Amino acid sequence: MHISVIGCGYLGATHAACMAELGHHVLGMDADAGRVAALNQAQAPFFERGLDDLIAKHLATGKLRFTTSYADAAEFGDLHFLGVGTPQKPGDMAADLTHLEAAVRRLAVHLTRACVIAGKSTVPVGTAARLTEIFHELAPARDAVEVAWNPEFLRESHAIADTLSPDRLVLGFEDRHSFAEAALRNAYAPLINAGIPLIVTDLATAELVKTAANAFLATKISFINAMAEVCEATGADVHQLADALTRDPRIGALGMRPGLGFGGGCLPKDIRAFMARADELGVDQALTFLREVDAINTRRRSRIVQLAREQHGSTLSGARITIWGAAFKPRTDDIRESPALDVANLLHEAGAVVTVHDPMALDNARKAFPYLNYDDDPADATEGAELLLHLTEWDDYLDVDPERLRARVARPSVIDARGTLDPASWRRAGWTYRALGRP
Ligand code: UGA
Repeated sequence: MHISVIGCGYLGATHAACMAELGHHVLGMDADAGRVAALNQAQAPFFERGLDDLIAKHLATGKLRFTTSYADAAEFGDLHFLGVGTPQKPGDMAADLTHLEAAVRRLAVHLTRACVIAGKSTVPVGTAARLTEIFHELAPARDAVEVAWNPEFLRESHAIADTLSPDRLVLGFEDRHSFAEAALRNAYAPLINAGIPLIVTDLATAELVKTAANAFLATKISFINAMAEVCEATGADVHQLADALTRDPRIGALGMRPGLGFGGGCLPKDIRAFMARADELGVDQALTFLREVDAINTRRRSRIVQLAREQHGSTLSGARITIWGAAFKPRTDDIRESPALDVANLLHEAGAVVTVHDPMALDNARKAFPYLNYDDDPADATEGAELLLHLTEWDDYLDVDPERLRARVARPSVIDARGTLDPASWRRAGWTYRALGRP
């Protein structure tokens, strides 16, 4: 098939490369000329394992290229995926749909023949219906433009595998057995034939699957972090508690790791946008619990600052603190809504002298927070530190020898927010070790 992908950020760039891998001819379109030039040189605008290689492979096969032109994308594709970002509105909980709507308007005016639009962006329920109206109003092809919704469930750092072998495919259509359904079944034929579960539904349900999924994932994380608060008050160990709970298949083994909570470009803004939409729909009470999910998540960050104060034993003003981790999770350079950097900023505001290490995200962190100190070696970063905070659980930190590190620091004092360091070996090496949710 000839497919265009509108918006080449995390979602769109990955989707474009993966559609080429499935055998289609793909044109990725993004309004950012610098990003498009880099993509045409096989450089994604962010780090994702294997993505640059996959893009290079299909630039070479001729199945993939990138453009800044809406007209080219409209002309090229019979199926257009929308992967434009929907960030949180500044000063508001709702999603900002201005970029998505602007892209839709600019694409629509060039659609002169029958085609299918498949939305992938995470949107408030009802958006697909509204975008359908815009296409029918602005496109020369009018009603021959059919809109479908096909939410994406990829996780950063697993993006290619999640796209090429997802847990499920969800396709939402206004009408069953439409041209749009045939086109999307065709686009995903290799996955459908491989037995990936397929859920075909209406537009609103497809939109809701995505927001409900992220709301559930966020709730699961905040549930175990709420248990961590109870553990801290009772001397119980939340990691052992989680281990015992997740043996029950009804609770499930994945996505319930206690720690510093969730960050990133998706879960935080998606639960807020979901609450804002529920409010508009008059069902705000149905999602009031998500306020608490958000609050529990933020409380983990202030709890770390409180522990830092207790552990340091005096005011944080002038305290030399090293932070391990800047990315919102390991194996990405993404720092959006990073819990680690949020804590770094809280400590900086409290007067601490903060030095941050991260294996991959330092360039992004430096740009966003130029007033923090940075070091690209995890041991060097601790030189003269009075307190070490382990905030993003990169494997690199498991390789650091606490015995040797002790000689570098001013005070051997560590707080493990993610609970992945081995308490016994740190304590044996003479460190004062504390962790969130652990005695
Ligand atoms: C999330 C969802 O997992 C994807 O299914 C979804 O497609 C994506 O958002 C999206 O909406 O685009 P992602 O943001 O890449 O993916 O990250 P996750 O792996 O879900 O982690 C999110 C945050 O939760 C991270 O800060 C992570 O450290 C934290 N987390 C995750 C925990 O604290 N505990 C866990 O058990 C899992």
